[in-house]
Amino acid sequence: MTQPPPATAHPGLFISFEGGDGVGKTTQIRILADLLTAADVDHILTREPGGTELGVEIRRLLLHGGHVAPRAEALLYAADRAHHIATRVRPALERGAVVLADRYLDSSVAYQGAARSLGPQEVRDLSLWATEGLLPDLTILLDGDPDLAERRTTGRGAKDRLEQEGDVFRAALREQFLTLAQAEPERFVVVDADRPVDQVADDVIEAVVAAVRRHGVHLAHGGAHQGVLLGLEAFVEAFVEAAVRRSAAGPGEEVRS
Ligand SMILES: Nc1ncnc2c1ncn2[C@@H]1O[C@H](COP(=O)(O)OP(=O)(O)O)[C@@H](O)[C@H]1O
Ligand SMILES: [Mg+2]
Repeated sequence: MTQPPPATAHPGLFISFEGGDGVGKTTQIRILADLLTAADVDHILTREPGGTELGVEIRRLLLHGGHVAPRAEALLYAADRAHHIATRVRPALERGAVVLADRYLDSSVAYQGAARSLGPQEVRDLSLWATEGLLPDLTILLDGDPDLAERRTTGRGAKDRLEQEGDVFRAALREQFLTLAQAEPERFVVVDADRPVDQVADDVIEAVVAAVRRHGVHLAHGGAHQGVLLGLEAFVEAFVEAAVRRSAAGPGEEVRS
């Protein structure tokens, strides 16, 4: 397997959000996307599986299609990822956009590698092969009590297959994510998700600013100015200003996914 290229190989910034169901990934991604819009920074939102048309079909097969053999499941996730990274994520990173991914390779490793019987390293290697070695520049692990997250999501409607697998699975999953975070402290930031939305968001914002400084990315303007590059300090200033305006406006509405 080839080694991943250095994170600075592209001008944009690749941020993934990880954690079990209900920890607040979608909520935090939407807050961050709103701030990037307010700061006029080019960005895209993407989810796995299902970030492309092909991915939507794969997602349907995976989540509602009955039993799927573990290796078939791993390959389906990897197929979705290969297509999604090649057609959406890499082009965005190359033009200097921020990519906000709702789950990425760590979910595969944690869900399929640890909680099922495939080796975590094999699942990781498969994913890196599929993506030609693309790792996020920053991974935000929203870590929280699975019972609390479960209570947040009840009332969402029928549970899908992964959601039904119970408390033991959720506890094991949480441990797996934490183990992954410990193994790569330079990539991960672990955020305590058992707090009000705005407190979690403050930590997420801080992690993003730190990652932008660390990677020295060359982000691009969004909207009408798409393609025009922003300096590092100009980004930080516009982004932090948007964050301050947001806190001054008081707690936002709770976001539903
Ligand atoms: N920090 C929080 N405190 C209380 N409720 C939250 C918090 N973050 C998210 N929620 C609510 O919990 C539910 C699940 O959040 P969501 O962002 O969809 O989680 P995920 O995408 O990780 O499954 C939503 O109804 C959301 O409004
Ligand atoms: Mg979600």
